[in-house]
Amino acid sequence: MKGIYNCEVIAHSEVSPGVIRSLLHCPEIVRQAQPGQFVNVRVAATTTDPLLRRPFSVHAVYPNEGLFSLLYVLVGRGTALMNKIAAGENVSVVGPLGRGFDLGDSTGAQHIIVAGGCGAAPLHFLSDRLCALWGCENVKVLTGARSKNALLCEAEFISHGVEVVVSTDDGSYGHHGLVTELLQRRLFNSQLETHNSQHIRVYSCGPNAMMREVARIAHEAGVPNCQVSLENNMACGLGVCMGCVQKIKGPVPGDTSGNNWHRERVCKDGPVFNAEDIIWD
Ligand SMILES: Cc1cc2nc3c(=O)[nH]c(=O)nc-3n(C[C@H](O)[C@H](O)[C@H](O)COP(=O)(O)OP(=O)(O)OC[C@H]3O[C@@H](n4cnc5c(N)ncnc54)[C@H](O)[C@@H]3O)c2cc1C
Ligand code: FES
Repeated sequence: MKGIYNCEVIAHSEVSPGVIRSLLHCPEIVRQAQPGQFVNVRVAATTTDPLLRRPFSVHAVYPNEGLFSLLYVLVGRGTALMNKIAAGENVSVVGPLGRGFDLGDSTGAQHIIVAGGCGAAPLHFLSDRLCALWGCENVKVLTGARSKNALLCEAEFISHGVEVVVSTDDGSYGHHGLVTELLQRRLFNSQLETHNSQHIRVYSCGPNAMMREVARIAHEAGVPNCQVSLENNMACGLGVCMGCVQKIKGPVPGDTSGNNWHRERVCKDGPVFNAEDIIWD
């Protein structure tokens, strides 16, 4: 069950320019969190500026220590304030929130994780869990960024023991091009891919344009299970304000008006959705 917790900030570290990892103490969240779920953080305890909590995916959990981490880009006021909270002080955290990745019964499946930029944050937790459940040899990570400096979590993914393939838009490291080209290659090059597409599961988080392309490629390759984690702007984070809605294919169950799409709340019905269900505007 989600709750509101006062979590002690243990440490912040700058993992690359403008990207921070914050370590928080909260055994309750650590016990409950599933890969793909997020927390909503009140970054200023004593003022209402900024007014709204800020959502961040759970990046890693350390059950023995009761610690979890967030990995975030310094974008504006909220993330800047968050990074300034001193070690030993508390932040108010609501969570774990939302529906995470469906790990299903994937005996015999090959899991392909496609990360774009800071989309690596929730996928790090996912990779760790998939390895524990199904063995690292069945998990591949394709991760891309604008340039080598902006690439996140490569070493962490490798430390899980999974195969990692990297791309950069500017060619400064790994494949010169988009991470979706790596996916295209992997799903359509039979030399690389020994699995039948029916046994492949794809998981993705990153910019919407990238996830839309991931969804298209997975669909074309006949991959039956492709899940994407959306990061629509949020206000309440609890399913109340309808500020985060996403267009989804098909009518609302029971609706006979003939509508062939409806809206779902990213905070409560997601943030992870089946890619086939999304209407990408
Ligand atoms: C479910 C979810 C999980 C997320 N996980 C991560 C994560 O793990 N790491 C990470 O770096 N970022 C993550 N984000 C995005 C993160 O919430 C925003 O970058 C953050 O709220 C910006 O706050 P700010 O005050 O620093 O910036 P602001 O100055 O408030 O905003 C700067 C820009 O950030 C975007 N933004 C602002 N508020 C939100 C919001 N509530 N949701 C999405 N975008 C917003 C806006 O487009 C705005 O232009 C996640 C968002 C969602 C919805
Ligand atoms: S942010 Fe309010 S309903 Fe999702």
